Amino acid sequence: MPLVTSTEMFKKAYEGGYAIGAFNVNNMEIIQGIVEAATEERAPLILQVSSGARKYANTTYLTKMVEAAVETSGLPICLHLDHGDTFALCKDCIDSGFTSVMIDASAHPFAENISITKQVVEYAHDHGVVVEAELGKLAGVEDDVKVDAKDASYTDPDQVQEFVEKTGVDSLAIAIGTSHGAFKFKGQPRLRFDILQEVENRLPGFPIVLHGASSVPQDLVKVINQYGGAMPGAQGVPEEMLREAAKMAVCKINIDSDLRLAVTATVREHFALNPSHFDPRQYLGPAREAVKKIVRHKIVNVLGCNGKA
Ligand code: G3H
Ligand code: 13P
Ligand code: ZN
Repeated sequence: MPLVTSTEMFKKAYEGGYAIGAFNVNNMEIIQGIVEAATEERAPLILQVSSGARKYANTTYLTKMVEAAVETSGLPICLHLDHGDTFALCKDCIDSGFTSVMIDASAHPFAENISITKQVVEYAHDHGVVVEAELGKLAGVEDDVKVDAKDASYTDPDQVQEFVEKTGVDSLAIAIGTSHGAFKFKGQPRLRFDILQEVENRLPGFPIVLHGASSVPQDLVKVINQYGGAMPGAQGVPEEMLREAAKMAVCKINIDSDLRLAVTATVREHFALNPSHFDPRQYLGPAREAVKKIVRHKIVNVLGCNGKA
């Protein structure tokens, strides 16, 4: 099976009250860990590449490794650009075989967000590629750009219909209180399910995307801190909130930080216990297993997309 778009995945996820995991990929071990878990759980999969990942790993390497994943797993896999910020970047990914792109023009005023998104949608649809856009602004860190909580803003449900109609976009990321990174809430975690419900009322049947959806497992944070890390106060989105969102209109849940935590906790612990190891396979192998373990947990216990491939 070749790479697929997310159209069919989202349709079934919406109807079935579950969500598809969109996992960020940066190297071979991360790709393999994710794909092994999804293969064993027969879960449809979105592998997403940020512009930082493209710079780090080289987009050709990443694309070819994702092609290898398609070949070895037989799973429906969608290759997605995460947080594309310009038409040129989206076009480049479309031209090099991605089946889905995100144009994130959410930092621009509403009218400009519409016109940039529309331009990407026209090019993408002409090439059989689907597009995700964003309305509202998440807090957190992306590609070294930090959006302070005070500059973040919730999605305005009054704008979503006009935005979707005018752009022709295929899915929409909204801001309801999640944020990127491992420090999402200062106090009690709170998501604006009322906004999500309002958006769903205005766009019945339309797939919604949740960014910043890592749950920051405290056992991983503890291991990192135990072996010399410093992440006091790290806190993610409680898993029951993600399950709730997946039952509603949220069809795509983005997870990156949890994979980073799994890799880092494993490597830190490994070197603390085996300081003289110098073969990268001795620590990258366990890191790959840790990625697999957390992805399997997400698929089965949070997203509910196991057995849906
Ligand atoms: O939303 C951001 C993702 O976690 C990707 O992060 O831009 O550092 O690759 P990155
Ligand atoms: P996390 O930082 O919560 O993993 O979010 C990732 C994300 O939204 C990628 O686009
Ligand atoms: Zn994101």
